[in-house]
Amino acid sequence: EEAAAVRESLLLWYDVNKRDLPWRRKAEVVEEEDCADKRAYGVWVSEVMLQQTRVRTVVDYYRRWMARWPSLELLASASVEEVNEMWAGLGYYRRARFLLEGAKMISSSGEGFPRTVAALRKVPGIGDYTAGAIASIAFNEVVPVVDGNVMRVIARLKAITANPKESSTVKKFWKLASELVDSIRPGDFNQSLMELGATVCTPVNPNCCTCPVSSQCSAFSISGRDESVTVTDY
Ligand code: ADE
Repeated sequence: EEAAAVRESLLLWYDVNKRDLPWRRKAEVVEEEDCADKRAYGVWVSEVMLQQTRVRTVVDYYRRWMARWPSLELLASASVEEVNEMWAGLGYYRRARFLLEGAKMISSSGEGFPRTVAALRKVPGIGDYTAGAIASIAFNEVVPVVDGNVMRVIARLKAITANPKESSTVKKFWKLASELVDSIRPGDFNQSLMELGATVCTPVNPNCCTCPVSSQCSAFSISGRDESVTVTDY
């Protein structure tokens, strides 16, 4: 099956090539009883920071944030002023306030971190993207995650041209991604798509010669060279 081959190639590539980022490190994630919940907190903070901010910038902010508030409970006891101060320079301060509000809500629920997309969506500030990322990466729920990188990768794989700003397009890619997601390692698979889009399948001058799925890529087979001519919108 075609999708199975894409999954296998992407996961093998990801295992070898994934970037060493603090929220992916076991040592900085603390392997204890509450491991999955701790992991979820780190994934949540990193994914919110990564919205509209590049990875290189986020790494330092993430380290400082986690040093100050190593757990959800400690964040929940912070003030808006402290959180805004920590966020200074990242922009879109609403994201920081949502993290604080969400932490208070989850912490006071006494039920631990929500573990499914359905439950996560009830937390203020957690949308489809963040819910999918947390549920798949921290709790292994078999759900997709779609951002701009993922849309571009899938668009090229399947040679789809569509306006990425239209909601029907976004919906279509959520459906395609849900058909593609790996059922054993959904979190790693989702991250492999994001990682490929960020480092190989870039908007301009994609690095098709190092791409693990170029032989399965429609855009590559059509353009026949180291550049996509079919899906420039993504
Ligand atoms: N961009 C946003 N979240 C990411 C993740 N978890 N892995 C790679 N790139 C990302």
